[in-house]
Amino acid sequence: MRGRFIVFEGIDGSGKSTVSRRVAGHLAERGEDVHWTMEPTDTAAGRAVRAAIEGRHEPVSTTLLFVADRIQHAHALESRLADGQTVVCDRYLHSTLAYQGVTLAGRPDVPDPTAWLRDLHAHVALRPDRVVLLDLPAEAALARAEARGATDPFEKVDFLERVRAAYLDLAAAEPERIRVVDAAGTPDAVFARALDAVDRA
Ligand code: TYD
Repeated sequence: MRGRFIVFEGIDGSGKSTVSRRVAGHLAERGEDVHWTMEPTDTAAGRAVRAAIEGRHEPVSTTLLFVADRIQHAHALESRLADGQTVVCDRYLHSTLAYQGVTLAGRPDVPDPTAWLRDLHAHVALRPDRVVLLDLPAEAALARAEARGATDPFEKVDFLERVRAAYLDLAAAEPERIRVVDAAGTPDAVFARALDAVDRA
């Protein structure tokens, strides 16, 4: 049987990395064959993405790198899923739709960012079976990100609040696939909610 592809999404500081690792660990303890992964990946393509973020490269150029990294990543994950592995991924398609949707808004050369981003993803055949969106106000998320010393240019409160709104719009359009989880509260409480969002049909 084909494995499930489960994606965790949310703004910076929402707790995706911690929660997704913990959910993956829990599924493994339950006996599932689980592979945890993330985007940007730790391949050459992902390193190019991180360099573009740090170097504040031109946004369309950075967008194309995110998508290139994803095309390569999806290609690599395909055989794992075909072999029945459960794949848990920290960020995927909806990160680009939300973040780059905001970054590219208002550009005359990209009149409809959402449509353009979706067109680029015609080259990414793999779609998540379930997306867990960890939702938190930008201010609270930023406080968490700052506490661990994160300083990348995407991490600004107004920007993150717009990304958050974009994520919530995406979730409202696809309520079956994308489950919104309140990411406020203790790590144990958020973990329990996230696991429920993964398990519930
Ligand atoms: P993230 O995994 O949150 O980085 P880190 O582990 O270093 O905290 O991703 C890095 C940044 O890239 C983050 O601010 C979100 C942004 N991003 C996009 O804008 N679009 C994308 O498609 C992805 C995958 C990430």
